[in-house]
Amino acid sequence: MRSKVTIVGAGNVGATAAQRIFDRGYADVVLVDIVDGLPQGKALDMLESGPILGSDAQILGTNTYEETADSDVVVVTSGIARKPGMSRDDLLLTNQKIVSSVVSETSKYSPDSVHVIVTNPLDAMAQQALKVSGFPSERVVGMAGILDTARYRSFLAQELNVSVDSVSAYVLGGHGDTMVPVVESTNVAGTPVSQLIEPERLEEIVQRARDGGAEIVNLLKTGSAYYAPSASIVQMVEAILFDKKEILPCTAYLQGHYGINNLYVGVPVKLGSGGAEEIVELKLNEEEHSELKRSAEAVQELIDVMAQAE
Ligand code: APR
Repeated sequence: MRSKVTIVGAGNVGATAAQRIFDRGYADVVLVDIVDGLPQGKALDMLESGPILGSDAQILGTNTYEETADSDVVVVTSGIARKPGMSRDDLLLTNQKIVSSVVSETSKYSPDSVHVIVTNPLDAMAQQALKVSGFPSERVVGMAGILDTARYRSFLAQELNVSVDSVSAYVLGGHGDTMVPVVESTNVAGTPVSQLIEPERLEEIVQRARDGGAEIVNLLKTGSAYYAPSASIVQMVEAILFDKKEILPCTAYLQGHYGINNLYVGVPVKLGSGGAEEIVELKLNEEEHSELKRSAEAVQELIDVMAQAE
């Protein structure tokens, strides 16, 4: 039997993720949105591409949650996206309500699923989803680090004129503005990046990766990034469905790891069928450690604002 993946939000990120998963044919997909006809139309269009692409997966669009029952993975992308001049944090209270109402349904219909939260501001929305679902924390995980790392790796590969496959890197911390690249673990075929790029230029590249989402928002003007975000979602979904136990940078609930307690922050995670099965603690230098702490404080501030709004 094929696995089942529910994607809530049939907008740019959700529909593109659904397409990528359907095209690969390894899971049936249920696409949910609040807008009548939108998920149904997109899902039918994708289904009709099956004979051309050779995908026998089923894909269904709906405005209700019954059809999502017993999903293995639920991806939450529903919410409002950024417009130019907005930060991810500007989305906080609107998306808090949306994520709460969605997760109360998805967690009821798929009580054994792993939830992958994508809606921004990501770290705070993952925390909200954990609270609403009542799931064990390893089964609620956020997508951000893979995307931030992919942006960073793309720019490094361009700078050095090497394949993206030859650049390995980890970024920690909150999504975007407070992301912390671990310079020690950034290397090109084993050579530390600090030996290949001057510190000032490296800092420029890091900053471009941090601002990667805003750069795209400013170009698009009417929405935010979705090709790289949806590819990042699929990497997480694959790791979970196929129990790959792949170590990927994800947003996970820390309970004492890196000296941070009861908070979602981006860290390397062993991702398998149980979700975030293990949190990997990298050796950080003092600066990285304090940047990670600062990043955690920024997440905590958002959690406090959400608590006041409830
Ligand atoms: N239930 C279901 N779907 C909803 C709900 C809800 N309560 N509220 C909004 N939606 C749907 C919208 O109808 C829309 O189709 O969520 C979808 C969001 O799609 P887009 O506006 O295209 O936004 P997108 O670019 O996909 O980004 C979604 O992911 O990366 C993050 O910051 C981004 O928070 C944003 C989210």
